[in-house]
Amino acid sequence: MNEQLLEKINKLKELRRAVILAHNYQPGEIQDLADFCGDSLGLSIRASETDAEVIVFCGVRFMAETAAILSPEKTVLLPDKHAGCPLADMITAKQLRKLKEKHPDAVVVCYVNSTADVKAESDYCCTSANAAEVVESIPAEKEIIFVPDQHLGRFAMEKTGRELVLWPGYCATHVIISKEAVEETKAKYPDAIVMAHPECSEPVKEISDEILSTGQMLRFAGKSDAKQFIIATEKGIIHTLKKQNPEAEFIAASDMSICPNMKLISPAKIIGSLEDMQYKITVPQDIRTRAKKALDRMVETKSTK
Ligand code: 13P
Repeated sequence: MNEQLLEKINKLKELRRAVILAHNYQPGEIQDLADFCGDSLGLSIRASETDAEVIVFCGVRFMAETAAILSPEKTVLLPDKHAGCPLADMITAKQLRKLKEKHPDAVVVCYVNSTADVKAESDYCCTSANAAEVVESIPAEKEIIFVPDQHLGRFAMEKTGRELVLWPGYCATHVIISKEAVEETKAKYPDAIVMAHPECSEPVKEISDEILSTGQMLRFAGKSDAKQFIIATEKGIIHTLKKQNPEAEFIAASDMSICPNMKLISPAKIIGSLEDMQYKITVPQDIRTRAKKALDRMVETKSTK
């Protein structure tokens, strides 16, 4: 990392009383310079607890929106306004309202990878770290709609034994990881532990040893005695896995699992963001109040791993 850029970021951070939050899929240099790097649940908790005046969110739009909903008094900046999430855009509030009409007695659980409008139409929100726990917290007789990620939804179904009404959304960066690619990597590293994200396809999860959120992967690797791990999620996390476990080897299950949106953030864009106070992410008051109810339930529901 260029020392001059880092110095500039630190000066601007002080000037703006800002904190830099980064997701585990960010480019390595962004993970290194962030004040906190984590998974969606960890980042949401940090965003709700920080006493900084400005949050620079190095991630994608729904993450910055979540921070803006949880901390309306703070200024939330997304360094690149194009950093979106195709999965979050796979269901609109209108489509969700239509689905709710078909299931009038159901409650809605939405994955945090969703727009603020969709969160406002939902009763509960969850991340990949606590999807099963959130589903379990709902009375057994209640019908549940789960949006937008079908793969996380199936994982929650399997863990809880509950039937969920699923929306056919998916994350392209995760479903590109094929069962064959994992099998080939396993053949090369037969002693490696396979850690897969719940957004992966079912055939991949079936042949994996552990199904974990990105934060859970970091905790698991830190506690494990294993020396080799095959990683079935966005490759960016391998940077921090290696940094925290220098004696272990981490192998990507697929070289194609790179999220182009996560990689839009750069040190130069963080500087531009802090200099010009852009791009401000705000959520209209009525949407914010409704979405916050679902998000508060997400933040309160601890993951068991
Ligand atoms: P987590 O970091 O919460 O596991 O989420 C991964 C993800 O897909 C974010 O878009």
